[in-house]
Amino acid sequence: MEIEKCKVLIDEGAIARRVTELAEEISAAYEGKKLLLVCVLKGAVIFASDLMRRLKIPVEIDFIAVSSYGTDTVSSGVVRILKDLDSSIKDKDVLIVEDIVDTGLTLKYLCKNLLSRQPHSLKVVTLLDKPARRLVEYVPDYCGFEIPDHFVIGYGLDFNEDYRQLPGVCIYNP
Ligand code: IMP
Repeated sequence: MEIEKCKVLIDEGAIARRVTELAEEISAAYEGKKLLLVCVLKGAVIFASDLMRRLKIPVEIDFIAVSSYGTDTVSSGVVRILKDLDSSIKDKDVLIVEDIVDTGLTLKYLCKNLLSRQPHSLKVVTLLDKPARRLVEYVPDYCGFEIPDHFVIGYGLDFNEDYRQLPGVCIYNP
């Protein structure tokens, strides 16, 4: 697929505006606190770095990698940790930063896993949400955009590790 031909679903400008709004909302909600962002590798890297730079509260960041799709666009339903956090989250205010909620399996698992480590609080911000494809009940605390049932790429999201560098979110249509 040629990058120039992909159909843009959410352009760079709309993402930037929404990330600023989310940062303001999150900064207000955590005023007077220090926030630990848990960025879910690799898809949320660009969103987390843009969001982090717009937050007006003290913030630290850590990274976790979980298995999701292999080489297909269909969820395997199997979730496991490929790279764990570097430090303890006990008694910290933790915000998981995710690129997209699809079936909900990843976040359901991740929240259960991180809650067992006794953070002071645990919430989730996702850039995108595809509620039509949920297999388990899951509602993110903060969401950038609800999108219809398309496989999307760009702004960190990949297909087989490609297209993460696209500035906007595009519909994958080979
Ligand atoms: P879930 O467990 O089905 O909610 O899937 C979450 C993960 O699947 C995300 O963090 C993405 O890595 C991946 N994923 C789900 N939908 C898409 C998509 O449309 N494009 C790229 N990756 C996706």
